[in-house]
Amino acid sequence: MKTALLISLASCLLVLNGQVIGRCELAKILRKEHLDGFEGYTLNEWLCLAFVESNFNISKVQENADGSYDYGIFQINSHYWCNDYKSHSENFCHMDCKDILEPNLISAMQCAKKIVSGSSGMKNWVQWILHCSGRPLSHWMTGCKVQ
Ligand SMILES: *[C@@H]1O[C@H](CO)[C@@H](O)[C@H](O)[C@H]1NC(C)=O
Repeated sequence: MKTALLISLASCLLVLNGQVIGRCELAKILRKEHLDGFEGYTLNEWLCLAFVESNFNISKVQENADGSYDYGIFQINSHYWCNDYKSHSENFCHMDCKDILEPNLISAMQCAKKIVSGSSGMKNWVQWILHCSGRPLSHWMTGCKVQ
C-alpha cells in the first residue's frame, strides 16, 4: 500500500519535472505575469528565444564544457546568473538555479529580463543570434488567444 502510494507520488513528480509547455500557454503566462513589459522585446521574440534554447522545456538542465550548467526554458547559465552550488557563480540574478525551473516561470523571467536589460540584449544567447535575430517572427503567436 505504502509502496504503491510512493510509486504514484514519484511518477507524479516525474511528470512535473519533465515539463514541456505549449507555445500559446507560454505566451499566456508571459503576458499575464509581465504587464510591466518585456525589456523592449516582443512576445514573439521571447517565444523564439524559449524555443531555440529549450524547446519549451521548463525543466531543461544542460552541462557546459566549462562545468557550468544552463537552466530552464531560457537556459540561464550558472557561472554568471544563478547559483547551483556546484561551481563558482557570480550569481548576478541573486537566485538559486533550481528556482529558475519552477513551472510558474517567475524566477526564470525575472532573471532573463535582467540579462536582456544589459547592453547586448538577447544577443547574450548564441541560439538567438543564429535562429531568431533579424528573422520574421510573427508566426510565433499564430493561433494564440493572447492579445
Ligand atoms: C526536459 O528536460 C529534462 C532535464 O534536462 C529532461 O530530462 C527531459 O527529457 C526533457 N524533456 C523533453 C521532452 O525533452
